Amino acid sequence: MTKTVLSCIQPTGHMHYGNYFGAVKNWVDLQEKYACYYGVVDYHAMTMPYDVKKLRNNTWELIYNLLAVGVKAENLFIQSLVPEHTELGWIFNCFCSVGHLSRMTQFKDKGKDSEEKSKDAFVSAGLFDYPVLQAADILIYKADYVPVGKDQDQHLELSRAIAQRFNNTVGKEYFVMPETLHSETPKIFSTADPSKKMSKSAGEKHFINVFADEARIRKQIRSAVTDQGGASDEMSPGVLNLFTLLKSAGRMDEHEALMKDYNAGTLKYVDLKDATADGLSAMSNAFTEKKAEITSDKRAIKYLIKQSSEEIRKIAKETLREVKELVGLLNVK
Ligand code: TRP
Repeated sequence: MTKTVLSCIQPTGHMHYGNYFGAVKNWVDLQEKYACYYGVVDYHAMTMPYDVKKLRNNTWELIYNLLAVGVKAENLFIQSLVPEHTELGWIFNCFCSVGHLSRMTQFKDKGKDSEEKSKDAFVSAGLFDYPVLQAADILIYKADYVPVGKDQDQHLELSRAIAQRFNNTVGKEYFVMPETLHSETPKIFSTADPSKKMSKSAGEKHFINVFADEARIRKQIRSAVTDQGGASDEMSPGVLNLFTLLKSAGRMDEHEALMKDYNAGTLKYVDLKDATADGLSAMSNAFTEKKAEITSDKRAIKYLIKQSSEEIRKIAKETLREVKELVGLLNVK
């Protein structure tokens, strides 16, 4: 039987090469082998203080971006178009202990961050409960594999604990235990500060948008930090990051040639930078072209994604129906 893959991503306006090489490209590749469901999780995006005027736009923007880089429309859904996730989330709340949720490091980190920014920061109950909704996202499709970063391991373990408690309570092996799928994805760092992960939150110069124009990419790569001074036998993080980007952009031959230069001690950083900028620009140009095509008829795309969400929702509805039967609730129909 074809195995099922599920993953989700929170809507943000930008997609950078850290997101793409680290996760989304893997989503695209997995489509060849598995039955895949990929969600844009707008309910999760409400767990931190947010701008109500921007959320819906960010959701659609992410949909356009995912389509432009190769995620198939029929595999995509928007979480709020499958409201069964939240209903199952409620049921799962009753199969998850406060103690277990209190140990989630992501909650502690995000909560602490907000409190550091302001003493009376608003930390929502939704942020605390976030992993329970995530468990519902996963289990509602009875996913075998969940491709996520290591930072999500704890959430996956919580999902399994919920599934286990549920199965024990209803006396049936109803849910399969979902496994994380740690694919070998490259870690991309900020070119401006290679000690930091590429991320949007660190500011403009710390991420390269996958839809950036060529001039901007060249400028960012040209100014990439290479050596930070101090002699060392090891490749500096900045140089390593450029090599990673070059390879990820599919420029294997150049990667090999420049690596030879590096090992011979003759590498000119400008050559590495130019090759990397060429590779990324070629990718970005293709993505941008695809995105222009997609966004030339937004109405059609919105219709398409509403359809795919509705199609995927059938699975969610069926699971929820069975779950309600099993736990002693009533079904509307
Ligand atoms: N918590 C995930 C993240 O921050 C996003 C997410 C929500 C998710 N629901 C999920 C990931 C279900 C995998 C499966 O990246």
